[in-house]
Amino acid sequence: MLYSAETAAIYDLYFPPDRSPEAELWARLAGPGATHLLEPMIGTGEVALLLAAKGFEVTGVDLATPMLAVAEERRRAAGPEVAGRVCLIEGDICHVALPAARFDLAYVSRGSWHVLAERRMRMDALRAVRRSLKPGGKLAIELFPPFKSGGQSEPQAFRPHRPVPPGLDVVKTSMVERDVDQQVMRIHEALTVNGRTTECCLLLQLLTPEQIRSELKKAGYRQVALYGSYALAPYKDGAPLILTVASV
Ligand SMILES: C[S@@+](CC[C@H](N)C(=O)[O-])C[C@H]1O[C@@H](n2cnc3c(N)ncnc32)[C@H](O)[C@@H]1O
Repeated sequence: MLYSAETAAIYDLYFPPDRSPEAELWARLAGPGATHLLEPMIGTGEVALLLAAKGFEVTGVDLATPMLAVAEERRRAAGPEVAGRVCLIEGDICHVALPAARFDLAYVSRGSWHVLAERRMRMDALRAVRRSLKPGGKLAIELFPPFKSGGQSEPQAFRPHRPVPPGLDVVKTSMVERDVDQQVMRIHEALTVNGRTTECCLLLQLLTPEQIRSELKKAGYRQVALYGSYALAPYKDGAPLILTVASV
């Protein structure tokens, strides 16, 4: 399974302890007066809960039960007021039934979009999200920029960005293969958490700025802007990320 219980147990450790810059970015893009946000591929819900603490109503969709279980635990721990503003839906963002014209902003963080490896999947997801946006609502997607050279990495050990909680014993090896012509990354991972092992291969399809722009337009989005930083500097070749913001 791609996002197993073991993956979910250590997922947050991949991120810096403070993810508020991301929450601030999405709040800023949502704009004044925005109330309802959608996070397709919400994972363990950390950024969504930060946004709910700011007063937004946040709906998150994810297809991995173990990831949603962590998000649900986090939701409950936030207390009744904040928890009441977060709705978690188990489903595939390509086909999930979402309320029509409900959200001011849908945001996709940290390259999650790349798991939609086939164009057909991305088009279905773009259309499902578009129907759920209010007139004038926006979809913002944070993408990895295309890579310039291919090949296979050496096996890499686990490098958490937060202290590993006591009682969590983690052994992990991963290896990344990059196909520069296809812009496909394959991440092979063997993970053991407290004696339970999972192995998986995650395929990420990277996109050129032209591809993402054309897919958004084809799915009915207008005014597509591409940025290269959270400070919303215009995207240029060599930027560390591609942040697309499109409106309906
Ligand atoms: C990188 S993780 C989540 C990132 C999360 N948004 C964050 O910023 O912490 C990607 C998530 O996408 C979910 N996912 C993958 N394909 C999906 C799909 N078709 N529909 C919904 N969720 C999906 C996985 O289960 C996983 O939890």
